[in-house]
Amino acid sequence: MLIRDIGSLVVVSPGPLPGEQMRAVNVIQDAAVLIRDGRLAWFGSAADAPPGEGGPTLSAAGGCVIPGLIDPHTHIPFVGDRAEEFARRTAGESYLSIMESGGGIRVTTQAVRAATEQQLVEENLPRLRRMLALGVTTCECKSGYGLAPKHELKQLHAIRELGRRQPIELIPTYLGAHALPAEFEGRPDEFVDRIASEALLQQIASEKLARFCDVFCDKGAFDVDQTRRVLARAANAGLAPKLHADELAQIGATRLAGELRAISADHLEQIDDGGIAALKAAGTIAVVLPGTSFFLGIEHCDARRLISAGLPVALSTDCNPGSSMIESLPLIMNIACCQLRMTPAEVLTAVTANAAAAIDQHQRLGAIAEGYDADLVILDAPTLDEWFYTPGRNRVKTVIKHGEVVYEA
Ligand code: NIG
Ligand code: FE
Repeated sequence: MLIRDIGSLVVVSPGPLPGEQMRAVNVIQDAAVLIRDGRLAWFGSAADAPPGEGGPTLSAAGGCVIPGLIDPHTHIPFVGDRAEEFARRTAGESYLSIMESGGGIRVTTQAVRAATEQQLVEENLPRLRRMLALGVTTCECKSGYGLAPKHELKQLHAIRELGRRQPIELIPTYLGAHALPAEFEGRPDEFVDRIASEALLQQIASEKLARFCDVFCDKGAFDVDQTRRVLARAANAGLAPKLHADELAQIGATRLAGELRAISADHLEQIDDGGIAALKAAGTIAVVLPGTSFFLGIEHCDARRLISAGLPVALSTDCNPGSSMIESLPLIMNIACCQLRMTPAEVLTAVTANAAAAIDQHQRLGAIAEGYDADLVILDAPTLDEWFYTPGRNRVKTVIKHGEVVYEA
């Protein structure tokens, strides 16, 4: 397939792209893209396009073309909502105080435990379809609301089924250590042994139910020693480490991410200089989640500081019913631009090349490069700047996954 009439093609290089390199996107005006066997075979100025191969052509009608968006940190699939907690926060309560009074993750855990795999699938399919319409072609999905082996496995199976039932490619992560369930109150170490038993981790890895293991390492969740234990065992089983780090309090989670050479460290609102140095030395991707700080009304992570320090920064929705009921990656991108003072080029890099690196898929996803998967979005805006200039308006016209048109507005 040849895509022609591209107003501007935003060429993002393969990630990870650290620091200043995040700005280095190359824009080709009046461009064309040739797709063969689901991959990018050629791209460049339309005037230089290779002679037609007799395949179909698609007009971008002067729109901007970008790599498909990658959401590298979500808590999909979940069921139910916590709108009541949201209202309590607007009236002055905090995420932690609501959690301490019995709300928070445990509420969603009850709902997920009561749901069948089928219900998890049915409730999350429309969510993923809405995300597709916003330009998302790949999405990381976590378990973490089952908090017991059988319910965690149910969530992971639901992710697998969701991946089969709609076009977004789903990359699964096991987050068994997300919160301490009520029945283990006062016995966190016992819970950690249960949720990170060798047999369970082996099963998850061998059935390819997850590629990564994540832990919520924070005040009110799991401490550094417990997190190290879970992630070391998971790595033994073949699940690469990721961490929820430095979101609510500074307990050394990001330094642990560096020590374990984690694929990514996510949240980072409370990161300190030691944490930044640790991530840099380990080549860990810094995943910033401004939807969470926006939704909770807390201070944003200082993304500029991370970029200045030369880290590769990714952005994500953190879509979950408690701290970020936000499905829209473009909304996150607008917050990053307007409130984190990131440029449109940096933001696009953060949700393509660097997001791909945050899920270890940067060898084939997140870039406009020959041989890369043909995951593309055609916008009804002629340039990247024009797209970012109009927050709250869906400018996604066409979504292409692996060379197939999977959504048209
Ligand atoms: O990423 N931080 C921990 N977990 C989620 C919140 C989950 C919830 O509140 O349901 C997060 O913010
Ligand atoms: Fe999260």
